[in-house]
Amino acid sequence: MAALNGAVENGQPDKKVPPLPRPLRSLEVKYTKIFINNEWHESTSGKKFPTYNPSTLEKICDIEEGDKPDVDNAVEAAKAAFQRGSPWRQMDAPSRGRLLHKLADLLERDRVILATLETMDTGKPFLQAYFIDLEGCIKTLRYYAGWADKIQGRTIPVDENFVCFTRHEPMGVCGAITPWNFPLLMLVWKMAPALCCGNTLVIKPAEQTPLTSLYIGSLIKEVGFPPGVVNIVPGYGPTAGAAISTHDSIDKIAFTGSTKVGKLIKEAASKSNLKRVTLELGGKNPCIVCADADLDLAVECAHQGVFFNQGQCCTAASRVFVEEQIYPEFVKRSVEFAKKRLVGDPFDARTEQGPQIDQKQFDKILELIESGKKEGAKLECGGLAIEDRGLFIKPTVFSEVTDNMRIAKEEIFGPVQPIMKFKSIEEVIRRANSTEYGLTAAVFTKNLDRALTLASALQSGTVWINCYNALYAQAPFGGFKMSGNGRELGEYALAEYTEVKTVTIKLSQKSP
Ligand code: NAI
Ligand code: MG
Repeated sequence: MAALNGAVENGQPDKKVPPLPRPLRSLEVKYTKIFINNEWHESTSGKKFPTYNPSTLEKICDIEEGDKPDVDNAVEAAKAAFQRGSPWRQMDAPSRGRLLHKLADLLERDRVILATLETMDTGKPFLQAYFIDLEGCIKTLRYYAGWADKIQGRTIPVDENFVCFTRHEPMGVCGAITPWNFPLLMLVWKMAPALCCGNTLVIKPAEQTPLTSLYIGSLIKEVGFPPGVVNIVPGYGPTAGAAISTHDSIDKIAFTGSTKVGKLIKEAASKSNLKRVTLELGGKNPCIVCADADLDLAVECAHQGVFFNQGQCCTAASRVFVEEQIYPEFVKRSVEFAKKRLVGDPFDARTEQGPQIDQKQFDKILELIESGKKEGAKLECGGLAIEDRGLFIKPTVFSEVTDNMRIAKEEIFGPVQPIMKFKSIEEVIRRANSTEYGLTAAVFTKNLDRALTLASALQSGTVWINCYNALYAQAPFGGFKMSGNGRELGEYALAEYTEVKTVTIKLSQKSP
């Protein structure tokens, strides 16, 4: 992103930097229906629901509203596609990999369309959708395309006249329920490993952001996945979402979203068929800046770490702990960054921050900002909505934050940076870990010993040292404690989409 930012900020495009992609401002939305068996369907109930552009608050279009009967139809299709002898089950593993590569090719071809749709529906800056979200989707698809024919079991020595081996088999019909902050990327994180392992899918995108998921339906068909392998049912959580989590014929569910709904999904799984569950939930992620850190790097990473994607990230650096010697300087520089952050039209190439996703999130963030003021944190900048425009909030920095304040405990999911002070490493380890969450943590120091001590002491699924949001398709991602169950991405995710079968054969003679 450094080259990209340089090219934009100077106003003068650098000749060596390729021209920036441009959004399709008058793009027409083509796919608004329920996708089952590679065909588009109206909802059984006849109902539709609107999706809005959060930066203009205008309705983009109406979407067919899926509910239990539509989920049932999608599950029937996914079950049939998974039947023994079906085209999908008979397809050899390299061919599954080829289909995933072809899907990645089509995402590359339609990258501007998809980034435009994502920006319309979420309000995230177009260049971020294009360079970050779409890049992540394409790389994840190609990574799992490569895995398709490398999923293998083991041969296990047991008693001498027995042969024992394992097979890693697909689980069956997988449900995927996705959030609105990275609609397409979170879908691909689930879809790519599920398909590479040979499963079939029923997907429910977040009601705020169904457009890119539905577009993917058209690409699934174009690529030539057999009908029923991927089915997409847009709709609301308590209806379509709950129909997936309670379904007796869904074998596994992968969910990204709130901790509250994560608990409901696990409960629904245990009350129905004990389907396997992968959860990727909230975070209140510590970002620890030691006095010896490269301060420029730490300030910028902590800033991007919390403000990226309008603050709407499960990985948000929303508890910044700074060692006392450098605290005043860190706060000063962080405030300078926040004040410079350009908030506005997400289609404008200069924009760094767009609107929040909806009124509910906007109200929640402003309420938490008010609590910070009331509880005695020092408001350094921001702290308000941008008055003349819908759901935009000024980049906000609080200093003098203490651990008992709500802004230090609750997931804000907005452009708010709470900065705390610490004195010793033992103290910061204890404070960083005293939360129900455990998704990510970051450490800024030049001291290897400190870095590794913190990396092992912090209770979180990911620890970044001298970097932030360094996420790769090859490396697992997920949470300790109430930040989730299981892992997405990397080789580890294959275990979340396969069942292990042990085959034991008794030989008539002892082997030599
Ligand atoms: P949410 O958890 O309600 O929404 C995520 C997905 O779950 C959506 O597709 C939604 O339709 C579905 N869903 C909702 N209720 C359901 C149910 N009963 N059964 C099955 N699926 C259901 O999250 P929401 O309300 O949009 O945001 C609330 C908070 O959650 C945010 O302020 C943020 O703190 C957190 N969040 C975390 C995300 C992450 O990346 N881990 C993403 C989105 C929200
Ligand atoms: Mg929308």
